[in-house]
Amino acid sequence: MKFKIILYSEIKEEVRKELEKKCEVIYIDMDDPKFDEKLAVYLPEIVGIMGDGLMIDRSIIEAAPQLKVISNISVGYDNLDIKAINERGIIATNTPDVLTDTTADLMFALLMSTARRIGQLDRYVKNCNWSGNIGFELFGSDIHGKTLGIIGMGKIGWAIAKRGKFGFNMPILYYNRSRKLKAEKELNAQFCTLEELLQKSDFVCLMTPLTEETRYLIGTREFKLMKKSAFFINGSRGHTVDEQALITALEKEQIAGAGLDVYQKEPVSKDNPLLKMEHVVTLPHIGSDTHENKLAMDKLACENLLEVLKGNKPITAINPEILNQN
Ligand code: DGY
Repeated sequence: MKFKIILYSEIKEEVRKELEKKCEVIYIDMDDPKFDEKLAVYLPEIVGIMGDGLMIDRSIIEAAPQLKVISNISVGYDNLDIKAINERGIIATNTPDVLTDTTADLMFALLMSTARRIGQLDRYVKNCNWSGNIGFELFGSDIHGKTLGIIGMGKIGWAIAKRGKFGFNMPILYYNRSRKLKAEKELNAQFCTLEELLQKSDFVCLMTPLTEETRYLIGTREFKLMKKSAFFINGSRGHTVDEQALITALEKEQIAGAGLDVYQKEPVSKDNPLLKMEHVVTLPHIGSDTHENKLAMDKLACENLLEVLKGNKPITAINPEILNQN
C-alpha cells in the first residue's frame, strides 16, 4: 500500500515521479483559492506533508492524527510550530547544506547590485534614458576592500563571508550567538558585538534564522548605528527586521541603500514604499532558486520524507530528539 501524503509546492518532475512510486500524492497548490478547504479534507488521511512555507501550526497538527513526517523544502523552518510537532512525536525535516552556495551566490549578487545600482541602471538603459554621461547621482560604491559585516555566521553566512574575503578582499566582521573559530582562523573574521558590527561595516548582511531571539533584531536604533554610506542586505526572513524602521532609515538617508530578498509580508504589497525607492534592490525571496539547487532540495526533501515513512532516520532532521524517543 502506498503512503498518502500532501504535496503543497511544485517540485521537479523527476523527483515527483520517484515520490509517486511510493506515495499516493495529493497535490494542493498553495495559490489555490480553495487551499484551506482542500487541506481540511485530506489532513485526516495523510501520513506525510511536504512543501515550502505553509504555516504548520497546532490546528493543522491536530487535524492530521496520522501525520508522521513534515518535510520542509527549505532550510528555514520558522513556518513550523515545533512545540506542537514535538508533543505529537512527529518528525520534521529541512534541506540544509545543498543550498548553501546557491544562496550565498545570490546574496552576493544582491549586495553587488545594490552597491552598483544594477537594477536602476538596467531600467535606465532599457527606458532609453542613456543619452550621455550618467551623472554622479547614478554612480555606485566600491565593494572590494570594504568591510563586510555578517549577522548570523551559519553555513550560508560563512559562504558569503568566504566570497567577500577571497573574491573581494573584504575584511569580515561577524556577530553570532557563539564564536566561530573556523571563520576567525580561515577568513580572519572578527567576532564583535552587534553594535560594533553596525558601526564599522560598509555592508551589513543579515542571515540569521527567524527565532524569538532574532525577531525584529534590526530596528530604528540599529539603523541609526550604521554608517550613512553603508548598505543593508537581508537574506534571512522579513520579520528579523522592523520594516517600517528600515523604510524610515532609507527615507532619511541614514543608510545608503538596501538589498532585500525577504519582507514582512510576502508577496510584498503593491503599496509598500520600498518598491518606489531607487536605492533599494528588491527580489522575490529567491535565495535558493536555481534549477540545479531546486532539484537537490527536492531530492533531499523527498528522501527525508520516505526514510521516515519507511521507519528509518531521515538525512536532515530538525528535531532529532524525537528520533531518539521513537
Ligand atoms: C529557505 O530555504 O529557507 C529559503 O528561504 C526558502 O524558504
